[in-house]
Amino acid sequence: MSDTPKNIMITGGAGFIGSHVVRLFVTKYPESTIVNVDKLTYAGNLANLKDIENASNYKFYKADIADIDEMRKIISENKITGVIHLAAESHVDRSIKDPFTFARTNVMGTLSLLQAAKEYWESLPDKFENKLFYHISTDEVYGALELTNPEGVKAPFTTKASASDHTAFGVDFFTEETKYNPHSPYSASKASSDHFVRAYHDTYGLPTIVTNCSNNYGPYQFPEKLIPLFINNIMQNRPLPVYGKGENVRDWLFVEDHARAIDLIFHKGKPGDTYNIGGFNEWKNIDLIKVLIRTVDRLTGKPEGSSEHLITYVTDRLGHDMRYAIDSRKLQSELGWEPSLQFEEGIEKTVKWYLDNKEWVDNVTSGDYEKYYDKMYGDR
Ligand code: NAD
Ligand code: DAU
Repeated sequence: MSDTPKNIMITGGAGFIGSHVVRLFVTKYPESTIVNVDKLTYAGNLANLKDIENASNYKFYKADIADIDEMRKIISENKITGVIHLAAESHVDRSIKDPFTFARTNVMGTLSLLQAAKEYWESLPDKFENKLFYHISTDEVYGALELTNPEGVKAPFTTKASASDHTAFGVDFFTEETKYNPHSPYSASKASSDHFVRAYHDTYGLPTIVTNCSNNYGPYQFPEKLIPLFINNIMQNRPLPVYGKGENVRDWLFVEDHARAIDLIFHKGKPGDTYNIGGFNEWKNIDLIKVLIRTVDRLTGKPEGSSEHLITYVTDRLGHDMRYAIDSRKLQSELGWEPSLQFEEGIEKTVKWYLDNKEWVDNVTSGDYEKYYDKMYGDR
């Protein structure tokens, strides 16, 4: 979309990534109305948006994306022309315990939203012109990569790794052409939602874009995910539960760099297209955990590395994908995006944020914020 649409609906805006996207759009596009639609599950927290909640171009609706009538109402009431869809159940471990909630929100919720947007846009004189349904997805839909290539050559797994390093080492990574092969209930539900988005494009001509991003980290991430959970546990001198041998590899991107990519793709991406987003920043879990330990120790005045005794190897996650690694060269060459932060800077910023925002962490982990917002918005 070359022009910024007037009325943009962002779903899941009270969550981790969504709150960064809402903040970016509310501040960068004062002429647009940003409509945040979020069910406020355990993962949604309006405290993430305290700094912009009174902005004149910001509106919040507590609503379930699987409630199609509610979606129809919000979309037509606000004359929505662009949707950025982030609302989802996002945690793999929870999906292993309760796959049904993931199918309901991620699959049926996405389908309801697609249908509601399609109906509204079809009712307008200019129909799909200058409209966009942008679906945020994950690299996990592609399945898992090996740690080595068939000759046994290891991938670089360093902050300096780039696409050419990988090519030189002959180790693969996910491209936009990689066949879908999801393993967890979470990734199966996201894959299904991606297919529905593409089906609405191919069948009805709905202008859609799908992006698949690697692991995000940064401020406001719920402390059930590796990085914030471990920062919090190190701060509190609690055990650090490392799944299996800690050898799994993830490709990490600072959340504000993901939000910048979303902004760029929303405005310049080609409808019908897919873009991979990632920073060529692979880390073996155990190496990353040691970086976290050193950073928290240093910033809390302890001898660096003294918290390593907290590392506790526990039973592996069921079906634990070995390695994810994203090739984002298409986004870099076609739209000129690149990550702004080196990993060490991003980790430093993130650890400092969690140290400075203990109250946020306490509220989130104690469930107090849920009680507070229950009072404001009724039962969840
Ligand atoms: P999150 O769990 O922090 O936030 C999800 C938000 O969606 C919450 O605010 C929650 O209240 C809301 N939500 C859940 N169910 C809903 C429903 N039925 N109706 C309305 N709102 C609902 O998730 P996140 O980590 O910010 O991820 C956001 C999106 O990005 C997801 O679609 C996820 O699959 C995708 N993604 C995440 C990562 C990552 O590393 N976190 C990486 C790639 C893609
Ligand atoms: O790749 C993108 C995905 O990244 C997103 O789509 C998901 O929404 C997001 O949750 C994330 O999934 P992961 O499963 O990779 O993230 P998580 O933080 O749960 O785990 C990262 C790695 O750390 C993984 O190999 C499992 C391991 N781990 C995780 C936890 C919570 C542990 O060893 N111990 C833990 O306690």
